Amino acid sequence: MTAKRRILVTTALPYANGPLHLGHMVEHIQCDIWVRFQRMRGHECLFVCAEDAHGTPIMLAARDQGITPEELISRVADEHRKDFDDFGISFDNYHSTHSEENRVLMEGIYAELDRKGHIERRKIVQAYDEKEQMFLPDRYVRGTCPNPDCGAVDQYGDSCEVCGATYSPAEMKDAISVVSGTKPVERESEHLFFRLGHFETLLRDWTKRLQESVRRKLDEWFDSGLQDWDISRDAPYFGFQVPGQPDHYFYVWLDAPVGYMASFRNYCDRTGADFDAYWAADSEAELYHFIGKDIVYFHCLFWPAVLHGAGYRTPTSVNVHGFLTVNGQKMSKRRRTFITARQYLEKLSPEYLRYYYAAKLGPGVDDIDLSFEDFVQRVNADVVGKLVNIASRCAGFISRNFDGRLADSLPEPGLYDRFAAAGETIAALYESREYSRAMRDIMALADEANRYIDEHKPWQAIREAGREAEVHAVCTQGLNLYRALAIYLKPVLPEVAAASEALFGGRSWAWADAGQPLLGAPVEKFRPIIRRIEMKQVESLVPDSEKDSTVKEKKDEGKDNTIDIDQFLATELKVARIDKAEFVDGADKLLRLELDLGGETRTVFAGIRSAYDPATLVGRLTVVVANLAPRKMRFGTSEGMVLAAGPGGKDIFLVSPDNGASPGMRVR
Ligand code: MSP
Ligand code: ZN
Repeated sequence: MTAKRRILVTTALPYANGPLHLGHMVEHIQCDIWVRFQRMRGHECLFVCAEDAHGTPIMLAARDQGITPEELISRVADEHRKDFDDFGISFDNYHSTHSEENRVLMEGIYAELDRKGHIERRKIVQAYDEKEQMFLPDRYVRGTCPNPDCGAVDQYGDSCEVCGATYSPAEMKDAISVVSGTKPVERESEHLFFRLGHFETLLRDWTKRLQESVRRKLDEWFDSGLQDWDISRDAPYFGFQVPGQPDHYFYVWLDAPVGYMASFRNYCDRTGADFDAYWAADSEAELYHFIGKDIVYFHCLFWPAVLHGAGYRTPTSVNVHGFLTVNGQKMSKRRRTFITARQYLEKLSPEYLRYYYAAKLGPGVDDIDLSFEDFVQRVNADVVGKLVNIASRCAGFISRNFDGRLADSLPEPGLYDRFAAAGETIAALYESREYSRAMRDIMALADEANRYIDEHKPWQAIREAGREAEVHAVCTQGLNLYRALAIYLKPVLPEVAAASEALFGGRSWAWADAGQPLLGAPVEKFRPIIRRIEMKQVESLVPDSEKDSTVKEKKDEGKDNTIDIDQFLATELKVARIDKAEFVDGADKLLRLELDLGGETRTVFAGIRSAYDPATLVGRLTVVVANLAPRKMRFGTSEGMVLAAGPGGKDIFLVSPDNGASPGMRVR
């Protein structure tokens, strides 16, 4: 075996304002498999991650929920930690970017970049919300696309999702602040810029190590020229203050990757590990970041440049993966393809998903699809039908008949040797993240093992006098083949491996243990290792969409107007804040409302004009049917319905939740 390597590995830091979903888990599972593999090979492999706690969305989410950002991020962190734990993600440390370690590192890096002349100060003009007294990131401004050929309504302040035009909020004539619903003004302030262009030579060379398709993307960026990067934000902001400049904060994406170092610093302080051995410019340790394809710019341009500029080492590589789709569609709540990590864990064992992702993942950036049918079929056929089947067909005979011990020799040592020899090929596949090929190779060996047992039929031989030794030999062979495969799958299936280790006496396996068969040793009584998945369990991960149509059928029958709980739950009721309310020209019953559903804005036309003066509605909370199909009206499209009581006319009473509710909350 090669010399012991020192490896530090990270996964991208999840934002601390929302739940983990199965898309996040692609990355953490991919990385965890790699880490567990390295540790089994005898290397020192440390795995750290953290919460990404700063930025405007987190500040505003906390405000909407009436809590401090600190409260929000600590609550979310607890949920994230629990999810990771239950998925078997084997972090050595999990920390937060909102930490003292991160502040100290960030300030040190900034001071060094500034000292070396990589920071420039420049005045810029931005949209400003006078009511909230805050500068508005482009995403917090909405209005009509200024492209004369387009004119799409309700677009972001920086780009149009309909025609693709890019512009500044000032070019939209009806721009609105999503935060207060008022019209933003323009205001000037001084910002800090990181001179990325200073690092072009370094980056052109450093990026040669990356995956082919990532390099192609980077070439495009090099060709269009490396732009200076705005690394500061104006107060109010949830983040680190720029030293000596109270109204300026570091942009969340500057201190987020520093969070990798901060988490490791925290680990070193806890364990006495040597920080510099991993981060100093002359470090010989390996450093890998696992990320999704959407954050390549930050990790493959800004981050190595910042590290180098501040006198640290650059990453050995950045491993980029694609995106998860569910049943062929982008994950979205509306399409019922959004599955949180917790929803999954409530129904199914993490082992299934770990295997399925492994069976799908290659070293490239291709998206992977979680198709429910394929998932059930794949896991049942491979893990249960092929792998565990080997053990369940052999173990019982040994524990019942031969004093619970394996025989002292193998009847077909050559067959075992081929399994042992496959270990290096499979290891090479893990190393290069070609997991799908590794799974294929392992399952091909499982097929061979099953064929061997089929040919020797121990269940027949055991009933014939004088053939005991043969049964003992065949089952010893079969169990050893199983053991080798369970070792090869241990990075992917830690729980199956633990149950299998217990079967063979409890010692924890390293990769090299597959090199020798286990002979003459006791075998524990066989207990079922993993169960088949039922399609029903998987379908229950998402609410049933078929139900909608049954409501209508029942009503048409005219007999029974009760609905069951699922039908009720199919109606998505949410708390909404009225950000804007106005008369609609030519409609004497309607008001046009702009609703905030917790970050998402909707336009709804409501027949409440006879009872409400629009000015009195702005800022108040109500309840909206959020999954009603959009309806085209003469005045525009209505994207939902607000709930109100009363007969009409002056007697219309808008439903409002009690104090404490906030936009986006689900109503049941
Ligand atoms: N906070 C930043 C990362 C900072 S790293 C210094 C962030 N957070 S995120 O929560 O939006 O995403 C975390 C990781 O999950 C990213 O690598 C992202 O690519 C990945 N994924 C998010 N959605 C995903 C899918 N649907 N499929 C696969 N990976 C996905 O970005
Ligand atoms: Zn447009």
